[in-house]
Amino acid sequence: MKSYEKYMQKCFEIAKQGLGNVSPNPLVACIVLDKNDNIISTGYHYKYGENHAERDALLKLKNGEEVGGTLIVNLEPCSHYGKTPPCADLIIERGLKKVVIAMQDVNPIVAGNGIKKLKDNGIEVIENVLKEQAEELNEVFIKNMTKKEIFVALKTATTLDGKIATKTGASKWITSENARKKGHELRKIYDAVLTTSATVLADNPKFECKTKILIDRYLKCDFSLDYFKTGKIYVATTIKDLPTPPNNIEFIEYSNLKTLFKQLFEKGIMSVFVEAGGTINGLLLEENLVDKIYQFIAPKIIGDNSAKSAFDGRNITDINKSKNFKIQSVENLEPDILITLKAVQND
Ligand SMILES: NC(=O)c1ccc[n+]([C@@H]2O[C@H](COP(=O)([O-])OP(=O)(O)OC[C@H]3O[C@@H](n4cnc5c(N)ncnc54)[C@H](OP(=O)(O)O)[C@@H]3O)[C@@H](O)[C@H]2O)c1
Repeated sequence: MKSYEKYMQKCFEIAKQGLGNVSPNPLVACIVLDKNDNIISTGYHYKYGENHAERDALLKLKNGEEVGGTLIVNLEPCSHYGKTPPCADLIIERGLKKVVIAMQDVNPIVAGNGIKKLKDNGIEVIENVLKEQAEELNEVFIKNMTKKEIFVALKTATTLDGKIATKTGASKWITSENARKKGHELRKIYDAVLTTSATVLADNPKFECKTKILIDRYLKCDFSLDYFKTGKIYVATTIKDLPTPPNNIEFIEYSNLKTLFKQLFEKGIMSVFVEAGGTINGLLLEENLVDKIYQFIAPKIIGDNSAKSAFDGRNITDINKSKNFKIQSVENLEPDILITLKAVQND
């Protein structure tokens, strides 16, 4: 078992090349070993609608070197006809002897059927290799499939005392170049970036990304701002009598964050990256809507009670009522750090 972990780790790294391009599909990569355990091919799912990882890797092999070999893949091979034919069938056809898998597919139309098909055809299947890491890699897909809900990642850039701006709203720049560059990279891996009228009016950010969501209950933001110049934009508003928007803008009638997320999911937005201030961050936290936090921390202290905090609005006296998170990683982005955390189920 141990010897397959290094290959599985490599699969995770290769699969990440699909980040930002495969939604609503999972991130998957595959390694093919010949019967002497030499790597003879690799493949990955690089774009929604294109070949799955197993097909990508196997179709690169023309001389039958894979016969009797092993295929390593981070997700159970599919057993159904989707945009491409079943990968399990191709594995059987190509004469592989062994398949090593990190996790079963949570998609109910696969869920164990791919594994069964392989076993029924005499292929040895080794399961659960680095399962926890595989689940982390596909956390968006897993939430989408099992809960039928959007995945919410929240980014915040704070000082050591948890402030995101001074009391006058000055926030440029809390973190340095490296951290901001990383923030831009993270933006691209989610389907859409969500922000608020308060943040757009304070910062006039461009947010270069395909899809944007703006919470602007009373339509305070002027469409001539830079923010509106690129991408498809959903504006969530409570106003009923709405003007005709420019082509790239669509209004969503909005009552609360939970139903807004439901509406966005129904529009095919599988994940959202929140870049807003303490008000919306606090509301999302209170409603247990945050799955993941990227917190950039600069080694600075504002030290002013009235400065804006990253998460506002809670009024608790019992420390046990804090929202809990698990640290997934800590990255040094000289001179700042990035802590990535996932939500622990709160009551
Ligand atoms: N350092 C960072 O990571 C970072 C990131 C983003 C922003 N910022 C800074 O954060 C500051 C803005 O933070 P903020 O806390 O003022 O604003 P915010 O959290 O970005 O947004 C607050 C806005 O949300 C809307 N809203 C929707 N539902 C609401 C509700 N139930 N209750 C209250 N408001 C609701 C309100 O706008 P409407 O009334 O118009 O709907 C309100 O003005 C800016 O200075 C910006 O520079 C920092």
